[in-house]
Amino acid sequence: MTSDVPKGEKLYEGKAKILFRGPEPGTLIQYFKDDATAFNNQKKGTIAGKGIINNRITDLIMTRLAGIGIPTHYIRRLSDREQLVHEVQIVPLEVIVRNIAAGSMSKKFGVEEGTRLARPLVEFSLKNDDLGDPLLAEEHILILGLATEEELDEIFEMSLKINDFLRGMFAAVGIDLVDFKLEYGRLAEEDGYTLVLADEFSPDNCRLWDMRTGEKMDKDRFRRDLGGEVEAYQEVARRLGISLDAGD
Ligand code: TMP
Ligand code: ASP
Repeated sequence: MTSDVPKGEKLYEGKAKILFRGPEPGTLIQYFKDDATAFNNQKKGTIAGKGIINNRITDLIMTRLAGIGIPTHYIRRLSDREQLVHEVQIVPLEVIVRNIAAGSMSKKFGVEEGTRLARPLVEFSLKNDDLGDPLLAEEHILILGLATEEELDEIFEMSLKINDFLRGMFAAVGIDLVDFKLEYGRLAEEDGYTLVLADEFSPDNCRLWDMRTGEKMDKDRFRRDLGGEVEAYQEVARRLGISLDAGD
């Protein structure tokens, strides 16, 4: 499935994706690259075919989340590397949900990686690479005007619902959902706006551990130089029932 979609103007190029103006007003095309970065761009590389896999995984997850009533920016997949989404105003927060301590949580608070948390933790960082995405307390969010109290309530509620659902979905295929990052956006409507899930959901922005072997099946393979990134991403797709054969 190659792209025959006429892309509009390039609006923004991020570390793993490019956004183009979409075919209809209020739409964007999200293009998934193979580029991988870690530690705020200090480590750079490519994972061959990652963009194609992440496009498919995001398609499946956004569609399933819409099915349980989570509003999303997602419209449909257009090609191997492209998906059509609604244009939103991104809430400048990285919303991280954790079930098991790992990564920066282990480092910052001295909690051993692999420790199961008493309940899911919802944590926020400022989406600002120049500042190194600093951790935010709820008070910072409100006082800095990054989101309103109502939006924060909605973000908590939706993020926990997404976590419940995805934990079950991954557990059913033998994968522990350790943590993940979400982004939300404001979708303009006639009478105001709706808060919707935006961006992507892929092994680039979550941690997935094989329940039987403990193997990492996510971007930590790249961050930590473990190798086998492509195979791990492919295995996640395979377990979710995605066929990556040409023509699908
Ligand atoms: P952390 O342990 O490094 O804070 O990461 C928590 C989760 O968030 C992990 O699944 C990776 C994801 N993440 C992103 O998607 N983007 C980022 O910029 C960072 C720092 C983390
Ligand atoms: N995506 C971030 C970066 O490029 C951090 C990460 O995922 O580790 O730097």
